[in-house]
Amino acid sequence: MATNTHLTIHKVVAETADTISIHFQQPWHKMIDYKAGQYLTLIATIDGKQVRRPYSLCSSPHADAFPAVAVKRIPGGLMSNFLADWAEAGKGLEILEPMGNFFYEPAPEKRRHLVLFAAGSGITPMFSIIKSALKMEPNSEITLVYGNRNVDSIIFHKELTELQGNNSNRLRIVHCLTSPPEQWYGATGRISPEMLGEILDQTAPVLPVEDSLYFMCGPQGMMDSVQQVLISRGVPATKVFHESFFSSVSEEDKEAAIQEQGIIERTVKVIYDGDEFEFTVPAHSTILEAAQDADVDLPYSCQSGLCTACRGKCLSGKIHMDETEGLSQNELENGYILTCVGHPLTANVVIEIG
Ligand code: FES
Repeated sequence: MATNTHLTIHKVVAETADTISIHFQQPWHKMIDYKAGQYLTLIATIDGKQVRRPYSLCSSPHADAFPAVAVKRIPGGLMSNFLADWAEAGKGLEILEPMGNFFYEPAPEKRRHLVLFAAGSGITPMFSIIKSALKMEPNSEITLVYGNRNVDSIIFHKELTELQGNNSNRLRIVHCLTSPPEQWYGATGRISPEMLGEILDQTAPVLPVEDSLYFMCGPQGMMDSVQQVLISRGVPATKVFHESFFSSVSEEDKEAAIQEQGIIERTVKVIYDGDEFEFTVPAHSTILEAAQDADVDLPYSCQSGLCTACRGKCLSGKIHMDETEGLSQNELENGYILTCVGHPLTANVVIEIG
């Protein structure tokens, strides 16, 4: 079961005009233990309501003393905008312990090529991975392809440039800008399959695909382009890892699926932490929303079907999910579901969590 921890903010750094990084002091009683690429769930009370959101850690567990997340203001972003206005050194926040299946584990004895694709705030977990790999895998090479609007919107620009300068034989960074300045030596335009093909040809590593790992994080369009190029180059799916911050399923798609699947109000049983809970899920509610309305405290973070904090196993009955992006094919085939996007399709749904 994910447990709450209270963290004190060590410092807040303005990374770009709309992005800050929040660095936390390690709690004295138990260090925050995490893997590069994982996320922290931050919990805040906004207008009297508890809000939770996952934020990828941009710090490296191997190279940084303080765990840190990056937060970018977005239109309508309840938690992000709150944090950007509120966060300052000395204030405290509740968090859930680090989670996430998107992570990198160093293998110091290996020589391999880590190929990272990011756009915008998708750099956050990549920054952690880069710092970790540079420190922990002395023989490995890293290529980062990073897309942004303009130079000013490049998050961690100064640090990335420094890392590249200090590790020029191992770290290649290709910046791609849609609005570049006049004198620009990086790539120009949105990250597309054609652009990626050229970049990968030019930065072809000495290492074969078998010794490479591919990580991607950014908007769906970028991820689709990367996926397309990797498939065309014969990269096996087992070498590719992706993290999504935003669901691509619209409210219209969800509503259409509810009608199509004939989803109606049903009762479900959830087994969590050894306790059994039974509650009714209205047609337009998810299982998680219905649990919250019934005061059943289930685990969750993003509420968008992406982070897997709410993952459970469907022991009987059938469940429709608005979004399946967060789960692997293997998890789906083995009956795992996400309560935050799940709706019962049959009368006998039993879910086990934990
Ligand atoms: S809460 Fe993140 S996937 Fe459900």
